[in-house]
Amino acid sequence: MGESFQEIACVILVRVNTVAHLVVMGVSGSGKTTVAKRLADRLGRPFVEADDMHPPANVAKMAAGTPLTDADRWPWLELVRDWLSEQTKAGRCGVITCSALRRSYRDILRGADGHVRFVHLDGDPEVIAERMRKRQGHFMPPSLLRSQLDTLEPLEPDEDGVRVPIDGTPDEIADEALKRLGLSDTGDS
Ligand SMILES: Nc1ncnc2c1ncn2[C@@H]1O[C@H](COP(=O)(O)OP(=O)(O)OP(=O)(O)O)[C@@H](O)[C@H]1O
Ligand SMILES: [Mg+2]
Repeated sequence: MGESFQEIACVILVRVNTVAHLVVMGVSGSGKTTVAKRLADRLGRPFVEADDMHPPANVAKMAAGTPLTDADRWPWLELVRDWLSEQTKAGRCGVITCSALRRSYRDILRGADGHVRFVHLDGDPEVIAERMRKRQGHFMPPSLLRSQLDTLEPLEPDEDGVRVPIDGTPDEIADEALKRLGLSDTGDS
């Protein structure tokens, strides 16, 4: 036998103590902010929105109405990843919203120290469009939803995460997410 008992025990302990961050992902209007806030409250975790972490160059571009390219996104996603790593260092699990539509974006976030799990809020585009129409203070042209849906690469089998349907109230969706993640309100894994 190659590994000693101590080595195996250590691997198990590291696994049990794994800090698992939650990234709430999905297209614009899928309910990321609404649901992630509830998850953070219920789990007593720090919450941030990846959209608030863009470097100044991206903020300027977006303010000018210029779409971001992937080259613009990498440094931003690295900042988000680094925030997750800082939480791990501080012994906390974070909850973050990030559309994370492409697998390559999620691969960067997964590079954080600690364990990163995804919660994909997924649903009927008509339901999303209807919620967007009712949303106060945000204007989103229907073409943006279409392009986000075209860009979306759903979680693949080897990615740690769950898909959660967006029917029901925000509390019901948060309940379902916790259930699918195997997390209770008091547990912290
Ligand atoms: N389960 C729900 N039932 C009814 N309305 C909802 C539900 N979840 C979210 N909403 C409403 O839908 C709109 C979009 O939700 P939210 O802003 O949370 O989406 P988002 O994914 O964070 O969007 P963005 O990517 O643009 O930030 C909001 O007006 C929100 O109040
Ligand atoms: Mg949001």
